[in-house]
This record gives sequence, C-alpha cells and structure tokens, in this order.
Amino acid sequence: MDFDPTSSIVILTGAGISVESGLETFRDRNGLWAKVDHREVATPEGFAHNPVKVHDFYNKRRRQLRDTLPNAAHHALARLEGAWRGDFLLVTQNVDDLHESAGSRKLIHMHGELNSALCGACGLRGPWKTDMSTYSRCPHCETVGQMRPDIVWFSEMPYQMDRIYRALAKADLFVAIGTSGNVYPAAQFVEEASANGARTVEINLDVSDNTQMFNEVIRGPASKMVPDYVDRLLADA
Ligand code: OAD
Repeated sequence: MDFDPTSSIVILTGAGISVESGLETFRDRNGLWAKVDHREVATPEGFAHNPVKVHDFYNKRRRQLRDTLPNAAHHALARLEGAWRGDFLLVTQNVDDLHESAGSRKLIHMHGELNSALCGACGLRGPWKTDMSTYSRCPHCETVGQMRPDIVWFSEMPYQMDRIYRALAKADLFVAIGTSGNVYPAAQFVEEASANGARTVEINLDVSDNTQMFNEVIRGPASKMVPDYVDRLLADA
C-alpha cells in the first residue's frame, strides 16, 4: 500500500461497524428508522412533544450496551491507533461505547453518546449510565425535568467540528467504515479530505450514497475487512 508510517489518518465510522456486535443500523430494511419515526425520537421537537417516548427509546438502547461487546473491527482500529506513529483521529457517528471498550482513545463522538446526559437548564454534559426520565435531576444545577440524552439530534450541530475539519485538512488517508453516506456533515468528509489531497477508502457492506467519491472501495463485513485492511497498513509502516 506504500504508506509513510508518519502520515496522518482520519477514520470515520458509522452504525455498520457495530452490526456484528449485535447493534442495529438506521437505514437498512430492519434498521431503527424503519421501526420508529426519527422525527419523534431524534429531534428537539420530538423531545418537546413526548419526552417519555424519547427517554424510553434511549433507555432501551443504553441498557442494550451493557450486554454488547466490541468486535474485531473495533479492536483492529484500536490496534492501528496504538501502532501508528503519525497523527491519528477516529471520528464516530455512533453513540455506542464500543470503540472505547476496544481501547480507542483518540476518538470523537460527533453525534454524542448514549452513556452521557445533557442538562437543558445549565448545559452540563456528563456521564450517565442508568435510565433517564422526566424526573431526572441535573447533578450540577439540580434542576429536575431538563435532562436529555446527550445525542446530537437532526437539526443540531455535531460535536467538535473544528477539530474534525482541522484533522481532515492535513489527512493523508481518510477511511469511512460502515456508514451509508446519507447524513451530513459526516457524508461530506470524503470530499473535504479528497480536496486536501488525501487518499480515500470506503469499507462497507452495501453500496453507500457517496461511494463514487472514494479512491478505493472494499465491500464486505467490517469484522473481516477492517482487520485485513489494518494489517495491510501496518505491514507497510
Ligand atoms: P446507516 O444505517 O445509515 O448505514 C449503515 C451502513 O452500514 C449501511 O450502508 C450498511 O450497508 C453498512 N453495514 C451494515 N452491516 C455492515 C457490516 N457488517 N459491515 C460493514 N458495513 C455494514 O448508519 P450511519 O451511516 O451510521 O444519527 O447513520 C448516520 C447517522 O444517521 C447516525 O449516526 C444516526 C442516524 O440518524 C443520529 O442518531 C444522530
């Protein structure tokens, strides 16, 4: 593959990387958005209209995480981070905790985290591993009834975009894994990296919406394709 081991890597992951750990995607035939209307559970308006339904949706997903383990793809990315001598940044759209469980540390959760809460009264963001309800109290300002899942909903601004764009601006390699290329701004990262001269690689099971933007496309399950790809990268490093 011929990659300078001190070059900069940015990796973007989506729901597809966690499928083989037992979690659902959003847009597949049996995905989450086929079962529940995203406007009801993933918008500020949906939360204002029916907070109980929204808490119920995320409480179930938060509980599911307790029995979910990272798979070989998550482990391979943690191995790559540990071995790579150049800059490395893993950006995930996933709200699960499987990357950190596998050992990834240079990690941004651009769409927030299931195990985190956001207080609508004081703006505190902090760890939250139990169920949340309309009776939950903010541990900082002590307001009751304003706690919400720390998830970036539709129409809201993803986290740490400045840091992500800075990394994309100097990336030599951009790899997108298990994402449909449907949701912006993440879907546009490939163009950003490409415009800055990066080589771009997609690893996905199905054809994504922006597959034509990538220099190289690897089709297949993440648990097989990601470890193979990391082996190739590290063999050259
Ligand atoms: P999607 O559900 O849109 O896409 C998942 C992709 O993973 C699809 O293209 C599948 O082909 C692929 N896939 C499925 N199984 C796979 C496997 N075993 N190995 C590799 N790829 C596989 O999920 P995202 O692109 O992550 O936002 O969705 C982006 C955002 O839309 C999510 O972060 C979420 C959602 O609305 C929020 O909730 C804020």
